[in-house]
Amino acid sequence: MPGSTIAWSTVGTPTTEDDQPFEISDIGRFGRMVVRRFVTQARSSEQPSFRALVAEHLAVSVDDLAVVEERWPAYEHVNVQAALDTWLAAPGREHRVVGLADYRHRGSFGLADLLGQDGPMRFHGPRPGNVTRVSLPSGPGGQTRECLRAAVLLISDGDTRLAALVRGADPESDMGGVALEVVATVPDAASSLATELRALALELNVYRGQVVSFGHSMFGERSSLLRFHDRPRMSPDDLILPAETFADLRRQVVGVARNRDRLRAAGQHLKRGLLLYGPPGVGKTHTVRYLVSELVDTTIVELTGETLGGIREACSIARSLQPAMIVVEDVDLIAQERGHYGGETPLLFTLLNEMDGLAEDADVVFLLTTNRADLLEPALASRPGRVDQAVHIDLPDRESRRRLVELYRGDLDADLSRIDAVLDRTDGVTASFLKELLRRAAVIAADRDPDGAALTVSADDVDASLTELLDTRNQMTRAVLGYRDE
Ligand SMILES: Nc1ncnc2c1ncn2[C@@H]1O[C@H](COP(=O)(O)OP(=O)(O)OP(=O)(O)O)[C@@H](O)[C@H]1O
Ligand SMILES: [Mg+2]
Repeated sequence: MPGSTIAWSTVGTPTTEDDQPFEISDIGRFGRMVVRRFVTQARSSEQPSFRALVAEHLAVSVDDLAVVEERWPAYEHVNVQAALDTWLAAPGREHRVVGLADYRHRGSFGLADLLGQDGPMRFHGPRPGNVTRVSLPSGPGGQTRECLRAAVLLISDGDTRLAALVRGADPESDMGGVALEVVATVPDAASSLATELRALALELNVYRGQVVSFGHSMFGERSSLLRFHDRPRMSPDDLILPAETFADLRRQVVGVARNRDRLRAAGQHLKRGLLLYGPPGVGKTHTVRYLVSELVDTTIVELTGETLGGIREACSIARSLQPAMIVVEDVDLIAQERGHYGGETPLLFTLLNEMDGLAEDADVVFLLTTNRADLLEPALASRPGRVDQAVHIDLPDRESRRRLVELYRGDLDADLSRIDAVLDRTDGVTASFLKELLRRAAVIAADRDPDGAALTVSADDVDASLTELLDTRNQMTRAVLGYRDE
């Protein structure tokens, strides 16, 4: 049967073997596998069960113990592990980790099932086995932390004995998130462990102050993991905007953050929504990068149309890790799209509703960008108050073009004595166009003088570059660089 697999034979089998033709010797192989499986199963009942291990550790009957449970979303796995490591390392505590074998492909089970006296779990359920760990991202630049995938911890805390089942997200065993289940010899000890781990996981949260985005969902949208990014480094000189636009933006985003305490004391709301809109190539994304670079220590969660399903999680992260900024670029892409879970509600409305749901005094910025403000306007107008300010970023005016040419000239030795004529001819171009103008002038100069030591761009080279870019035959080039033909 093409495509059919025997559940337990697929474990660890490379997928490339899936389509191999059947051979007679497979019968023998299959037979040996069945025998091996049978022997393992038969002997498993001789190994100590979790029930026996835990009962011995706690030295009380496990039948009457209440199980305390705590759950987190999948991306919190690394934080829960950090919390666990810290908690376990405190003086007076000792522990032993017992891994789980045979727990995948078995649907859901909990600590109560492992400790149960009867039922199918007794012989066929997960057995004590090797400890499996998974390396999860814990910071930018490839930092990782080893996290338990599934294990039972036998803990002594002074005179108190505890046993905990820890499980991380695992699509193969129906786990969408992280779960901790605890029993203890002292009733309160189990719930305090759960509460303390929750608090520690928040305190040690690896995403705090970092730039993260929802990666492509490994386990479906709800439990996708977070990816770290390096914070861009930019100076105010790298962003050329009209002075008022720049000042206005900084006041809303950075200024509010800086004066958060006084504003909060005066009863002013901190939560703010900003929309950057304007034609393609004028620097909306560039502006976002600048703001991210300036907001050091602020948690940044970036979402795209594809990962917008994570908006609820993003809001929850932003709320718990304030100050925070949620960036949704090219928000027009989701204006019409309907979410998988949102039913009939377009994703944009889900976003606006989530923005509304966050407390007013949360120091959270929603920064949205679009080059199709016309598409968004009706939706934003029908849900007023989510976006406090729409900032128009337009094609650069003459002064901005002068500054852009200077910026992109950089260290290039270029003769800009005829710059005024260039500015006259470039009304309506984008920043990208001017960047390409200088690069192309440098290429022309290099080509003209192939043996020259250093690169010197003459005023003629600049003119030639501009003429090429404005040439009608280069209509497509002009279009991709964002030149607007009047
Ligand atoms: N205002 C600006 N100051 C300095 N450089 C700029 C500016 N605007 C654009 N640039 C340069 O042009 C590049 C493209 O701009 P950017 O991607 O920010 O445009 P955008 O407005 O986000 O366009 P789109 O609507 O297509 O997303 C930037 O990476 C940057 O190098
Ligand atoms: Mg952009």
